[in-house]
Amino acid sequence: MQGTLGPTPLSESEIKGRLDELLSDVQSASRLQVGYPTNQTYDYADLSPFLDYSLNNVGDPFHTSNYRSNSHRFEREVVAHFAGLMRIPQQDAWGYVTSGGTEGNMYGLYLARELFPNAMFYFSEETHYSVLKNVRVLNARHIMIRRQDNGEIDYDDLYEMIRVNRDVPAVIMANVGTTMRGAVDDIPRLRGILDDLAVTNCYIHADAALSGMILPYVDDPQPFGFDAGIDSVSVSGHKMIGAPLPCGVVLTKRPYVERVGRAIEYVGVQDTTLSGSRSAFAPLLMWYAFARHGDEGFRKLVARSLDTAEYAVGQFNERGIPAWRHRNSITVVFPRPAPEVFLKWQMAPEGEITHIITMPHVTRAMIDELVDDCAN
Ligand SMILES: Cc1ncc(COP(=O)(O)O)c(C=O)c1O
Repeated sequence: MQGTLGPTPLSESEIKGRLDELLSDVQSASRLQVGYPTNQTYDYADLSPFLDYSLNNVGDPFHTSNYRSNSHRFEREVVAHFAGLMRIPQQDAWGYVTSGGTEGNMYGLYLARELFPNAMFYFSEETHYSVLKNVRVLNARHIMIRRQDNGEIDYDDLYEMIRVNRDVPAVIMANVGTTMRGAVDDIPRLRGILDDLAVTNCYIHADAALSGMILPYVDDPQPFGFDAGIDSVSVSGHKMIGAPLPCGVVLTKRPYVERVGRAIEYVGVQDTTLSGSRSAFAPLLMWYAFARHGDEGFRKLVARSLDTAEYAVGQFNERGIPAWRHRNSITVVFPRPAPEVFLKWQMAPEGEITHIITMPHVTRAMIDELVDDCAN
């Protein structure tokens, strides 16, 4: 293909041609992006000067680093802000900006394994695929729990599995908004199961990839935070906040992290994070989004997305398509449409169902066009 990489540099026109082609593909794909939860309404142009510098947030954002071109101070602010959203006093919280939800989940499960090396890990079959991979990487013993039809974990199955393994610590991966159905596991009920069975060596990690930026902004949220009994939580940054590159945040309790940190002389940092070199740009993106929107702005953005979700359910139902969604969820579930409709709108499949996720860039006009496509 003209303009592919080889031993000699490409010409100006070849480089421009290749980039223009990709840009045009991306532009047309993002116009019809309704199947995956990436908010596309943002403008980070103010941050472009930072692209000229080799920034690197290597190490613990709460410690010093020999590598001074970093944005640790912005990262600490992002973590502090999330502490408020996740209902834990700032002085008790520790966290860092990750490369996305998967790393945040990995971190939570890693901490749990360090605290309870012989624990059994439990998660529902509705859980994001990254979790099974994570427990495999950790070589942790695990049991997959059945899910209910609505996507929540099957509490009876969980109870029974923990009961027969009462002699080992329990680590539960709770879903705070499942990928496919937006279901939220009942965290107080999970705690209740552990209490009932007197399993005191236990840990709950919450995967709040998308809903971690929704539930803090609604009037009547399902329990989701540290006040509900979680020990750590992972939230994606490129989902509801919106970012041109994948990112996220993981938050946990400060004393847990003191168990895993090691001082590294070479970079003069405390090594508490999973990655060594880490993006310094991602914390800037998240900081900038919060600085621009404020919590009030996000509350409005979330309210609008919920409103669009409700509109979508109504429009589908009016045309005889049995769409539904959970309370406080912007994930609208409905039967998988014809392949050409499915491809056009970049939907995510699971057997006979699919979903749309009404992120802030999804308009009522897009819903009308989609419902028309599905009904015809
Ligand atoms: C519930 C849930 N958890 C984890 C992830 C993984 O997040 P990421 O893609 O940011 O690694 C996703 C991604 O869609 C998700 O929906």
